[in-house]
Amino acid sequence: MSPKIHQTKDGSSTLYSERFDQYYHNPNGAASESLYVFFEQPGLTDFITKSDQLTILEIGFGTGLNMLLLINLAKRLNPDISIRYYSIEAFPVSAETAKDFDFGKHLTEPELSKILPTIFSELHPGMNVIKPIASLNIELHLFYGKFEDFKPEDLKADFIFHDPFSPEVNEELWSKETFLKLADYSKKSTVLSTYCAASKARGALCAAGWHVAKARGALGKREMTIAARSEQPLAKFKRVNERRLAERYQKGDF
Ligand SMILES: C[S@@+](CC[C@H](N)C(=O)[O-])C[C@H]1O[C@@H](n2cnc3c(N)ncnc32)[C@H](O)[C@@H]1O
Repeated sequence: MSPKIHQTKDGSSTLYSERFDQYYHNPNGAASESLYVFFEQPGLTDFITKSDQLTILEIGFGTGLNMLLLINLAKRLNPDISIRYYSIEAFPVSAETAKDFDFGKHLTEPELSKILPTIFSELHPGMNVIKPIASLNIELHLFYGKFEDFKPEDLKADFIFHDPFSPEVNEELWSKETFLKLADYSKKSTVLSTYCAASKARGALCAAGWHVAKARGALGKREMTIAARSEQPLAKFKRVNERRLAERYQKGDF
């Protein structure tokens, strides 16, 4: 069954998945949470302003909102930047559903939303390489399939948007094995961010050798998580006790 569209409190759309029994975003504001968790806190907005090239890896393409917000920001802040956007989606929505998304209020050019139905209408299983928009140098590498089968060559991300459903319902994407695989697609400066603050998820990150920190959560949530392959990107955040959390994860405490 196709997920149903709902409006979140900041006016942007989200979906409800019957399969996972969960909303795709925070009902208090899909776009607001996304901008905070994936752009503001990990320093991506600043990176866009200062860089020539950017590679993103997103776990869970969902509605395509994160990519849309990135395109919107890049066009506004640095239209010369070259972007490679990798994303994975096992259960893409139909083009019909995507036509009804409303993200306009959060875009400088509301017309940008129209690229989403086009993307969903062209998808085939496996890797899809798409140029979603002519006025920006962005290449979307959208893998239609399970993360477990995603095996790209030559991927080293600057930022990872870890955006699956919660660990309770999407457990396989919060395991040590998943975070080890994400480490293979990272470099020393890579920053991973996620809305999730669960100890089990943080323990899995620590057990996979990530440095892990807490940050204040979006829209009234107490905390979110930022992780990196080296300590430097986490300098302004409060770190978790990585050794202890890794041990507890390995013992099966959570
Ligand atoms: C919270 S939603 C993602 C929200 C999305 N980033 C957005 O901006 O709309 C999680 C997504 O992960 C997908 N997903 C869940 N398990 C998956 C798996 N094992 N492999 C690939 N995609 C998966 C779901 O179908 C869903 O679209």
